[in-house]
Amino acid sequence: MTAVTPERADTPVTSATPDSPALAFLPRSLHGDRRRWHDGPTPVSLADLTTITRQVAAEVAAGLHEVRVDHTHRWSRRLHADPHLDVWLISWTTEQAAELHDHGGSIGALTVVRGELTEWRWTSGRTDDQVTAEELAVCGPGLRRRALPASSGAAFPLGHVHDVSNRRPEPAVSVHAYSPPLSTMSYYEVERGTLTRRRSELVEPGASPEGGQVL
Ligand SMILES: [Fe+2]
Repeated sequence: MTAVTPERADTPVTSATPDSPALAFLPRSLHGDRRRWHDGPTPVSLADLTTITRQVAAEVAAGLHEVRVDHTHRWSRRLHADPHLDVWLISWTTEQAAELHDHGGSIGALTVVRGELTEWRWTSGRTDDQVTAEELAVCGPGLRRRALPASSGAAFPLGHVHDVSNRRPEPAVSVHAYSPPLSTMSYYEVERGTLTRRRSELVEPGASPEGGQVL
C-alpha cells in the first residue's frame, strides 16, 4: 500500500436533512430492544444499515442529493449524523481508492448508486477464482475480490477488513452508513497470505470515511 492522502470532506451536514425521506425514519431496532444488539455495540443492525444505504441510494439516483466529482481528492459529503448513525455520499474517480482497513468498533454498509466499485476483503486464507495468478503471487491467499455494480452493495460486520476502489473509467458513486459513527480505523497490509496491521488512527467526527490512497 502506498502513502495515505489527506481526506477532504465536503461541507458536512450534521443533522438529518429534510430532503432525505429515508433518513426521516428510525430503524425498528433503534427502539430500545437490546436483544437485537447482536451485530455490534449499537442498536442499529447490519440489516438496518443496508436498508438505509439502499433507500438513500435511491434518493441519490432520483436527483435528491447533489453529487460532485473531484479528481484531486475523493469527494464525500455527510448526509446524516446522530449518536448512532453516520450516512455518507462518496464519489470515486478511476484513480481513487480506499486503503486496506477495518472500521474499528463500527459496523457498516454501502450501496453503489452508479458506476462500479471493486472490493478486496480479507477472508482468512481463502481466495476465489476472480483473483488472477499474478495477483495471487503478490498477495498470497486470503484476499477475495468482488465487483460491486450499481444497485449492489456490501455489509461490514465487526472485524471486516477491506479496500474499495474504482477500477472503471467512469466515476462511481456510493452511499455508506456506519454505526456507531466511525471513531477509529486500522490499516493493514497483506504479504504472502499474512494480514498485518500497520497502524491505527482516530477518526475525527465529520472526517471522511473509508481511508484513502491514490493508486
Ligand atoms: Fe471501509
